[in-house]
Amino acid sequence: MGELPDYAVENRRHWDAMADLWVDAGERRWAADQPTWGAWGVPDSQIPLLPDDLHGKDVVELGCGTAYVSAWAARRGARRVVGIDNSARQMETARRLADEYGIELTLHHGIAEDVPEPDGAFDVAVSEYGAVLWAEPVAFLSEARRLLRDGGKLSFLTSHPLAVLTAPLDGSIPSGTELLRPWFGSYRHDWRNAVDEPGGIEFVPTVGQWFALAHQTGFRIDDYREIQVPESADDGLNFAVTGAWAKQWPAEHAWWLTAC
Ligand SMILES: C[S@@+](CC[C@H](N)C(=O)[O-])C[C@H]1O[C@@H](n2cnc3c(N)ncnc32)[C@H](O)[C@@H]1O
Repeated sequence: MGELPDYAVENRRHWDAMADLWVDAGERRWAADQPTWGAWGVPDSQIPLLPDDLHGKDVVELGCGTAYVSAWAARRGARRVVGIDNSARQMETARRLADEYGIELTLHHGIAEDVPEPDGAFDVAVSEYGAVLWAEPVAFLSEARRLLRDGGKLSFLTSHPLAVLTAPLDGSIPSGTELLRPWFGSYRHDWRNAVDEPGGIEFVPTVGQWFALAHQTGFRIDDYREIQVPESADDGLNFAVTGAWAKQWPAEHAWWLTAC
């Protein structure tokens, strides 16, 4: 791919600057006795982002951050686990934790749209709030398809468009209850001038767009879930939305695809 796309340059800067703030959360999720996903820590038993048995499988995590998803893939028996992340600082945390836990991961510093691995090298690809949110979706899906063997599985969890389309136009936090941005045309969202926590460029296609793009790039969609935060969750602010909000509307959604 050569030069980084403009959004990846900004996202590298943004994530290198934020990496220190993600160390604690990464450490907690590496240390947990069960995997949980997303901003509210929904258990894998409810949102099974990773197959239970990965023995003999090759797994790639796209936008691995602190790499706790990769760690769980290894704990579930994967033969080889590769993670790639655009932030060198996030990779420092991932490498340190992999060493501390004695888990063998191959970690690349780079973008998920251009992974230095051969065609068809993997059975499973996964992205939990990783490159799926921060990479241009056609490039992300096309590269995942290239990396997967026929019949391979891609699962991802990312922001639901409702959480972004109800965000105040000045980029302040939290999201409200009014649609302030158009549904049609939701794709690239640039937060560099946001009033609160400025920085980063995200990609949040609509549900219909994800369906179309998945088919266009060689995937079949097997399952799709809108994530409702449990009643027991705290009602307070969690990233850009409150718990009270996420009990009523989906802030996150998860997808399961097969390469065909
Ligand atoms: C919310 S964090 C990752 C969450 C992850 N599940 C964890 O274990 O921390 C998002 C990550 O995506 C990475 N990222 C953003 N754009 C990327 C891209 N195009 N390719 C690879 N990684 C990317 C960021 O550097 C950041 O580390």
